[in-house]
Amino acid sequence: MSKDKLVIFDTTLRDGEQSPGASMTKDEKVRIAKMLEKMRVDVIEAGFAIASPGDFESVKAVADAVKDSTICSLARAVRPDIERAGEALKTANSGRIHTFIATSPIHMKYKLQMEPEQVLEQAVQAVTMARNLTDDVEFSLEDGSRTEPEFMYRIIEAVIKAGAGTINIPDTVGYGTPEEYGAIFNNVINHVPNADKAIFSTHCHNDLGLAVANSLAAVMNGVRQVECTINGLGERAGNASLEEVVMAVNTRKDFYPVESGIDTTHIVPTSRLVASVTGFPVQPNKAIVGANAFAHESGIHQDGVLKHRETYEIMKAEDVGWNTNKLVLGKHSGRAAVRARFEDLGITFESPDALNDAFKRFKELADKKHEIFDEDLQALVSDAEAESCAEIFSFESMEVSCKTGQKPVAQLTFLKHGDPVTTQSDGSGPVDAVFKAIEKVADSRSELELYSVNAITAGTEAQGDVTVRLARDGSIVNGVGADTDVVAASAKAYLHALNLLESGAKAHPQRDGV
Ligand code: KIV
Ligand code: ZN
Repeated sequence: MSKDKLVIFDTTLRDGEQSPGASMTKDEKVRIAKMLEKMRVDVIEAGFAIASPGDFESVKAVADAVKDSTICSLARAVRPDIERAGEALKTANSGRIHTFIATSPIHMKYKLQMEPEQVLEQAVQAVTMARNLTDDVEFSLEDGSRTEPEFMYRIIEAVIKAGAGTINIPDTVGYGTPEEYGAIFNNVINHVPNADKAIFSTHCHNDLGLAVANSLAAVMNGVRQVECTINGLGERAGNASLEEVVMAVNTRKDFYPVESGIDTTHIVPTSRLVASVTGFPVQPNKAIVGANAFAHESGIHQDGVLKHRETYEIMKAEDVGWNTNKLVLGKHSGRAAVRARFEDLGITFESPDALNDAFKRFKELADKKHEIFDEDLQALVSDAEAESCAEIFSFESMEVSCKTGQKPVAQLTFLKHGDPVTTQSDGSGPVDAVFKAIEKVADSRSELELYSVNAITAGTEAQGDVTVRLARDGSIVNGVGADTDVVAASAKAYLHALNLLESGAKAHPQRDGV
């Protein structure tokens, strides 16, 4: 029996970025978007174009770089947002404007301070405006799962009539349960006279840990688009995780009436890239992409798997991209091989100079570390990008001395606005000493919210991938740095975070009362 297509709408770059501290630069967004395109994601929500000049540029850059997926920008149901989204998407092969307004009694009364009739009118106007800019318009009823059914039917009928091709009913606050949320779609599809003219979509938040279950319940009730994120990243407890939704549908073909077009072998590399760029590590027991997801520890399980894999394994690790981080390159690898491997990872170089720089960094790393894996190449590019956005501070060199029974001392040289500065401090440990030395010069008045170190690959030769999260005046940024020396990686990450702090905050789509 032929199955319906399940449209996979990835919002890692928009809702995922709304996780406090998960902000990404334009170049990082383009890299992730290219991986999503390789994975054959149908729609990539690249950002909220009006939020900041940086968001606008990111949506535009993704629209320029990605040609096989539809590129989408979020817009509140107001003219300036919709026009800005349309502008950012001008060069997209296929562009979608995603406009939304809150429809639940609590949001309309307290947040919007609008009557339901005004909300309905504004929704129709927004969709009409968006349709003048593109044929592909999605409308979302924010806080949809807590919206009165009769009002929901009326607004959906009206926006479909105005030209919305996709209708999204989000569980914005993660309050729904699978039975209840599924029933909402069943009722809408049965009560809205023109429901057959649109594709229905889910967008679930994970506050009760039900985002994936709710999304799949909706699929069983007629939904044909799921909005999700890599690693379940997203506002508060996150969104439905792309890898879990896709693998549930793939693994239980016997049960679900849909199929996605996703190339699942890119899942693990993309998960790693998102974790490294955002500094949100994946928990080891996370389904599909956690380090233990396919590890059989107990003797009984191991015995069973060796005798017949399907006794305990319902999916193959290689089908989701585990083991594809093959040993790629080493000290003697040539430029063409290095370039080809970068390209396999979706990383291209705009100029011969950019390739030369990447090759030089590769050689430096290969001198310190014999085996270079895909993750090392990703980290190398992240590091280069962090340096290229170094508007104020950039790392030069450091010397740290540690002796049992004595306080470590760090002496560091970095550039401030292009001029070398040398600074020194002691600290409770070498990293503390480095951060204190930097702060003596930077005086950022920021709070250190997170310091995390992860080994990029196995073994003691591995590069340390450091994330430093700093907060100041409501802005939260994540700096990243990688190096085989974790103290140097920490210094780079701290300086990167300071640069990002200076580049300013942006608007949040669900906080403004529109
Ligand atoms: O959670 C939500 O309701 C959203 C909408 C803007 C789609 O993110
Ligand atoms: Zn959301």
